[in-house]
Amino acid sequence: MSVFNVELKKVVDDSYEIEVGHELEQKLIDDIRAGLVGNIKKFAVVTDSNVRELHAEKICGLLEENGYKCDLIVFPAGETSKTRETKEFIEDTMLGKGYRRDCCIIAVGGGVVTDIAGFVAGTYGRGVPFINYATTLLAAADASVGGKTAVDTPLATNLIGIFNQPEKVYIDISAWKTLPQRQLSSGLAETIKHACLASSELFSYLDRNMDRIFAFDDEVCEHIAAENCRIKYSVVMKDERESGLREVLNLGHTVGRAIETVSGYKLLHGEAVSIGLVAEVLLAKKLGYCSDEDVERVKALLEKAKLPTAVPDYIDREALVKKLYTDKKVRDGKLRFVLQDGIGAIKEFDGQYALPVSEDTAREIINEM
Ligand SMILES: NC(=O)c1ccc[n+]([C@@H]2O[C@H](COP(=O)([O-])OP(=O)(O)OC[C@H]3O[C@@H](n4cnc5c(N)ncnc54)[C@H](O)[C@@H]3O)[C@@H](O)[C@H]2O)c1
Repeated sequence: MSVFNVELKKVVDDSYEIEVGHELEQKLIDDIRAGLVGNIKKFAVVTDSNVRELHAEKICGLLEENGYKCDLIVFPAGETSKTRETKEFIEDTMLGKGYRRDCCIIAVGGGVVTDIAGFVAGTYGRGVPFINYATTLLAAADASVGGKTAVDTPLATNLIGIFNQPEKVYIDISAWKTLPQRQLSSGLAETIKHACLASSELFSYLDRNMDRIFAFDDEVCEHIAAENCRIKYSVVMKDERESGLREVLNLGHTVGRAIETVSGYKLLHGEAVSIGLVAEVLLAKKLGYCSDEDVERVKALLEKAKLPTAVPDYIDREALVKKLYTDKKVRDGKLRFVLQDGIGAIKEFDGQYALPVSEDTAREIINEM
């Protein structure tokens, strides 16, 4: 028998820029012309059926005008498209059109598009570069930044995926103006989550400026886009692969992801996270880390953002409790929760950021809502 030692220490520079601005389509083309992805000449622009006309066709047109080969790959809008089947559809389309390794994927859309396109990019030809052009507040606040990519499965959301960093992220604030109110509110849930876990200033700012967000005030929208990036970046920088600190970004998501699946995707991601944030601040109160006033403030801000704060009647409470076990923070079969320490901070437990909580305690909170 022989044993070979494969020495493979890696030093990787996965740094990338996040550009926040208005109507950044031309800027994207200028960056590509200036060498953002080297000499690549072929671009697969992945988008959904809503964003196609709003932004993706323009980007494709500009690429072609500048001498690049470009194909639009469009799938039906919505979370129910974030599947292995859609990934396969994108891959087969690219294979059919002769894409090999010398190509780049541009994801144009919300979190569903950036999650799935980033995953395809990570496995297509063992990895091709990708760029995120984020068109929703939710993608700007969370999904397009940080390198987590995935698809959903019938068991739960985001179970199959990889860490894969984009070449650059464009956050087009002007794009938010065409978002239906429910979608804008859904994005605000992740913004409120960031405030709850890291910044009481952002929390107060959102409270003071909610009307201006719904009026698409440039200054306020730019501020929240930048604050979302700053907070997410400060966490991801310290823990890219979610081995510890990054778990704090999961605030509201233990209950949120479970309820999103149990609702059969009737609830949008942010709506589910909103309910999850209320459940988890109630849990923090029960365990002594938040006050009654903290709970009321979190609920009031979510309501101001036109988000749900109670478990809808049609949700089977017991199915929800059981679904909590599909959470990736579960360890040794035990539920673990990230807990707020007042507004703007997370409770740390000896270097850990999630606390084991019994099923009965979780059930009590869910039944309270
Ligand atoms: N990777 C991560 O770290 C991460 C973090 C948070 C959320 N997510 C994922 O993000 C997804 C949710 O993101 P989302 O809410 O952006 O979903 P989405 O991509 O489904 O977009 C929401 C809806 O808005 C439409 N839309 C997009 N841009 C538009 C625009 N400018 N004008 C009008 N309509 C527009 C879309 O077609 C869709 O119908 C979930 O799948 C969630 O799991 C990922």
